[in-house]
Amino acid sequence: MGAIQLQAIEKWYDQTPVIKGVDLQINAGEFVVFVGPSGCGKSTLLRLIAGLEESSRGRIFIEDRDVSALPPSGRGLAMVFQSYALYPHMDVRANMGFSLKTAGVDAATVREKVEHAARILQLSALLDRRPRDLSGGQRQRVAIGRAIVRDPTAFLFDEPLSNLDASLRVGMRHELATLHHQLQRTMIYVTHDQVEAMTLADRIVVLQSGLIEQVGSPRELYERPANRFVAQFIGSPKMNLLDGTVRDGRFYCAEHAVLEAPANATALGVRPESLALCAQSESMLSGHVSVVEYLGSDVFAVIRVSDTCSLTVRCQRQIELRVGEAVAMRFERDAAHFFDEQGLRI
Ligand SMILES: Nc1ncnc2c1ncn2[C@@H]1O[C@H](COP(=O)(O)OP(=O)(O)OP(=O)(O)O)[C@@H](O)[C@H]1O
Ligand SMILES: [Mg+2]
Repeated sequence: MGAIQLQAIEKWYDQTPVIKGVDLQINAGEFVVFVGPSGCGKSTLLRLIAGLEESSRGRIFIEDRDVSALPPSGRGLAMVFQSYALYPHMDVRANMGFSLKTAGVDAATVREKVEHAARILQLSALLDRRPRDLSGGQRQRVAIGRAIVRDPTAFLFDEPLSNLDASLRVGMRHELATLHHQLQRTMIYVTHDQVEAMTLADRIVVLQSGLIEQVGSPRELYERPANRFVAQFIGSPKMNLLDGTVRDGRFYCAEHAVLEAPANATALGVRPESLALCAQSESMLSGHVSVVEYLGSDVFAVIRVSDTCSLTVRCQRQIELRVGEAVAMRFERDAAHFFDEQGLRI
């Protein structure tokens, strides 16, 4: 239950296109994450699916039913917002049961559904509290509970964790993953945080300027990014990209002949963990240490290769590097990603 299909969806505000032709098939029970930079159209796309905005062109199907002309209430979806949007004067029980009550569901059923959702979300002891007497994480759980009681075909989340502090975010992320596992319901989740996208998604949809750049599993996007944008958007720290040219079958960057490459390559991508510091005799690239970031589990060093090019290297944590020190680096041939002049993967 819960397959959703978008066909050639466009959204214009006056003369400005915001969603520029999106086709997407979301499978029943799938956890799909929309990710992309601020303003790329993630929330707009979610609101179009929810029916809170009307699309300018294209069609939306939920379980093979064309819902393009239906209002939100006719689509059987439940949306959870960043702002929680709880009723301050109602306790948790009333907040969670409100939509059922207004839909005319009998009191006993409302009670049962609210208590069931509260058990799933560990809110049972808090049902009589007002929102102001709850922590941010508890409020967010109430907002999710309000969606669960409606037993929707699919859940739509718009940055539900961005008001929480870092450790609570991680905790709630785990709870959402568990919730998806328990409910086996379609979930569409909007975030600009690529770590959230990687950890939660069955499939990630990367958006930029109202268009899909790539759709795939976290592993597919990480290991085979379709273009430079996805290569640098997915992964933290981001993939190193070296601009260069190919001469006699070898990729040159700042006069370093790095490795053999396809003739049309104009950029070479290497992830920080694929680079290793090495002896000068094995060097593929060399430079000087400009920044060292010690994170405990990892050490990231920024190596300046030329005036216009610096690389981030994930080092073994035992290593002691000094700013200004000369270092040599190498990587395995199959760790290289090549991109052409249009920025597309070769
Ligand atoms: N009602 C509106 N009228 C005009 N333009 C709008 C309207 N709503 C959104 N936009 C524009 O549409 C674009 C996409 O907005 P949207 O809110 O979908 O972005 P987003 O990807 O969710 O960004 P963020 O990560 O900042 O939430 C933005 O450029 C925004 O200014
Ligand atoms: Mg948004």
